[in-house]
Order: sequence, then C-alpha cells, then structure tokens
Amino acid sequence: MGLFSFTQEVAIDLGTANTIITCNDKMVVDEPSVIALDARSDKVLAVGKVAREMYEKTHPNIRTVRPLREGVIADFYAAEQMIRGFIKMASGRKRWFAPSLRMVIGIPSGSTEVEIRAVRDSAEHAGGRDVYMVFEPMAAAIGVGIDVLAPEGNMIVDIGGGTTEIAVISLGGIVSNKSIRMAGRIKINVGSALTVLEDAPEDYVVHGPNQMTALPMEVPVSYQEIAHCLDKSISKIEAAILSALEQTPPELYADIVKNGIYLAGGGAMLRGLDKRLRDKMNIQFHIAEDPLHAVAKGTGVALKNIEKFNFLIR
Ligand SMILES: Nc1ncnc2c1ncn2[C@@H]1O[C@H](COP(=O)(O)OP(=O)(O)OP(=O)(O)O)[C@@H](O)[C@H]1O
Ligand SMILES: [Mg+2]
Repeated sequence: MGLFSFTQEVAIDLGTANTIITCNDKMVVDEPSVIALDARSDKVLAVGKVAREMYEKTHPNIRTVRPLREGVIADFYAAEQMIRGFIKMASGRKRWFAPSLRMVIGIPSGSTEVEIRAVRDSAEHAGGRDVYMVFEPMAAAIGVGIDVLAPEGNMIVDIGGGTTEIAVISLGGIVSNKSIRMAGRIKINVGSALTVLEDAPEDYVVHGPNQMTALPMEVPVSYQEIAHCLDKSISKIEAAILSALEQTPPELYADIVKNGIYLAGGGAMLRGLDKRLRDKMNIQFHIAEDPLHAVAKGTGVALKNIEKFNFLIR
C-alpha cells in the first residue's frame, strides 16, 4: 500500500459484540460494537471502548447504542456512524491518501436481501467505494485454516455474541448452513458448559444494591450456577450441529468425521464446550487458535483473493 496506492483495502468483521478491522494483515481496530450519540443532536460522541464506558453509566444527554442485534443491523444510522468512526480510527492521524476504499465485510450466512443491502449501504455511506461481502462461516473457515476450495467437506461452528452459525463447506461453497439467532448475551468470566470442571474457576462476584436496603452488596456466583443458565443455549447449539450432520451427504459426512469440527467465535472459548460436544457426538472438536479473530482473519484473506474467491458477494 503506502503513499502511492490509490486504493486502500480494509477487511471488516462487523459483529454483534465486537468489530474488527484489518488492513494489510494488521489488526487496526478491535473494539466493542457500541456507539455513543448526543441524545438531542445525534452527533457522534464516541465509538468502541470509550462508548461502552458511557454505556455503563447512563446519562440523559447520551444515547448509547449497539447497532447490531442477532448478527444483523438493527439501527441503520448508528451502524453507519459506527463503521465511519472505526474507519477513522483505523486510518489514525494520517489522512489516507487513497481516494477509494475497497472493503470486504462479513455477513451472517442467513442474511436476507434486505439485510445484505443494509450492510452494503452502511459501508458505502461510510466511504466504501468497492464493497464485497463474504458469508461469515466461510470467512471463519478460511480464518481457522481450512482449504475452502478443496473437494472436501468441513464443518465450522461460529459462536458469536448474537448468532451461532453452523456451515458445511466444500469446493468454495456453503453446502448447507444453520443459524441460531440469540437474543441476550451469553455471560462469560465464569461461564462453563459443564457442571463439573477439573480446574474450577473462582466465583464471579456481582456488585449491586440490596433490593431491600439499597445498600451496596456483593453476591458470589459460581460457575455451576452459570453452567445451569447456559445449558439451554448450549443444548440448542448441540441440536443444530446434530441436525446439520444429519443432513450432510454421506461423502462430506465422512470427511467431517475424519477432519473434526472447527469451533470459532468468542463462544468457542466457553470452558468445557469442546469436551461436552465431543462426548455427545463422538467427533473431535477443534477450537480455533484465536477464536475471536477467526472471521476477521478470514475476511482479510478473502480481500487478498478477490479474483480467486468467486463466492464473494459483489
Ligand atoms: N472466554 C470466554 N468464554 C465464553 N464466552 C466468551 C469468552 N470470551 C468472549 N465470549 C463471548 O463471545 C461473544 C463475542 O464473540 P464474537 O466477538 O465472536 O461475537 P460477534 O462476532 O461480535 O457476534 P456475532 O458474530 O454473533 O455477530 C460475547 O458474547 C462473549 O460473551
Ligand atoms: Mg462474529
């Protein structure tokens, strides 16, 4: 790139929980997907971590928004402004010389035409001249190192903050996919997919006012209690993986059993999840090396292979 190129290229993973932007293999933005706006004028006050801090402290003149819900844009204005803010952040203090911005953005594989349009519009309004989109499970698969063009079946499960996507990929295409849109967020820190862990984490201490006295109090929550709460969400993921396997053609099914199933997204880091899935299905599960950045990494690779990857959406 540098000073003389006319096109600046960025890859964007616009997630419900986190947005990651890479530029020439470098991660230039890794921020929560939050924007703070002036409640009266809608002027942008902050994006990312700074906005999240404002989110935690309510103020009548500040409107903090998470523009994505369940993987898709829910607030168009806020989404566009947030992307704009992050791109500004990515370009840093130096103004990009490039008059034209080429982008590849990940979108959920179950996106409707309207949802795809919304992402494209937001990206174009935020300065994108040449916008491509890639289905997130495809990007995640590339990001974990799967050869997506190979004549071989692979299954990827991307557990994010708003969606879980399961896809079987072969020959540069998504053969089948399932997605679960999850309202609300899976709580972490002491989260666990099993009620018995060998190295149990310490209790998570919740601070809040006592409902009777309004005095501050601390309540310890154990991983077992959280595991109980998470069980329903995990059962849904299990059922979706099983049903995806059931619908996989026999040749690809055999490949998946041989290769194991790949887990990506922040949810892949849930303690005990891989073990629970392995025990249930008798198939190996591999956690991506860097689950939170798998989609971003794959989107970056897609950006460099625009000519070769004809599954990119124009
Ligand atoms: N150590 C961890 N254990 C369990 N869950 C975690 C951990 N770290 C992060 N998470 C969860 O991962 C989620 C964020 O993952 P990720 O960044 O992949 O989501 P996203 O891409 O923004 O969302 P989506 O793809 O659904 O739009 C958060 O909801 C968080 O609860
Ligand atoms: Mg994601």
